[in-house]
Amino acid sequence: MLPAESGIAEAAAVLRAGGLVAFPTETVYGLGANALDARAAARIFEAKARPSFDPLITHLADAADLPGLIGAVPPAVAALVERFWPGPLTLIVDRPAVIPPIVTSGLDTMAVRVPDEAAARALIAAAGVPVAAPSANRFGQLSPTRAEHVVAGLGGAVDVVLDGGPTRCGIESTIVDARGPQPVVLRLGALPVEALVEAVGPVTVRPGSSGQPVAPGTLAAHYAPRTPLIVGAAEPAAGDGGRRGLLAYRQTPAVGDWAAVEVLSPEGDLTVAAARLFDALHRLDAAGVTEIVAEPVPDVGVGRAINDRLRRAAATWH
Ligand code: TXA
Ligand code: MG
Repeated sequence: MLPAESGIAEAAAVLRAGGLVAFPTETVYGLGANALDARAAARIFEAKARPSFDPLITHLADAADLPGLIGAVPPAVAALVERFWPGPLTLIVDRPAVIPPIVTSGLDTMAVRVPDEAAARALIAAAGVPVAAPSANRFGQLSPTRAEHVVAGLGGAVDVVLDGGPTRCGIESTIVDARGPQPVVLRLGALPVEALVEAVGPVTVRPGSSGQPVAPGTLAAHYAPRTPLIVGAAEPAAGDGGRRGLLAYRQTPAVGDWAAVEVLSPEGDLTVAAARLFDALHRLDAAGVTEIVAEPVPDVGVGRAINDRLRRAAATWH
């Protein structure tokens, strides 16, 4: 583990040599490899125990690097790039020939974004190559919002972990396919749907629509703690409630016999709640409880992405 400020040069050298570097972004920590190097990308799938059908997101240091990688940028994509990059928005584009098919799991499309985090952009710029990076956790488990989560989850499988402290957004990027007549949201995320609509007009939201998992962050079961989790009201159980943990939105319940309680945002701020979500779930998971009860949050703004993550975490246990 190296501090993000001073470890950039060393980490960039590791990337160029085909190694794996975990690094902070504004959303969650990413597990990066040189996106031009099929063998390096293969190591990501191995380290995460990630199925090969789940494509990676390619990260760039700057929006100005996009045309150099993919050629002409479709106007609707360019408009979103202009408005939201750097930021928690991943866009679907045609895969250029220089990106090996393993990165996109054989798809002829590629997911790409520029993170809004200085250390991430400095790292990618210093490496001088696009960086393929999924979230730096084992497949299906809780996403990492701190360097410590990465070390606990992936340990020795990573060559370098850059520690930039807790991530600002705490929840993954919103994924949008803007190549058609109307943008389609493939995964709810840190950029609220409302912000997209305000910028480009109506969008279709199709996360986890049945059938083929186009964006496997949209698999029904994902983002799961090791402890069984249910989504529901913060009501203490009649019987053995003493070992249950509560993930509350605003309020610690006055009555109840919870073994552990995490409150996401006493002030009722959904952005704060998103930033704390995975950290709180990591703590509840380590608290030795037999079940986690997660209160849904208001279904607006980034609250929609929080509820989406909670539902998928719960789906693992049903
Ligand atoms: O915020 C984020 O997006 C973080 C940070 C590290 O950038 N990354 C992240 O990566 O969440 P990951 O691998 O955990 O989720 C990426 C999602 C996957 O569900 C993947 O299937 C989808 O992006 N994806 C990648 N390429 C795609 C494509 N060509 N078409 C549709 N979905 C794609
Ligand atoms: Mg992930």
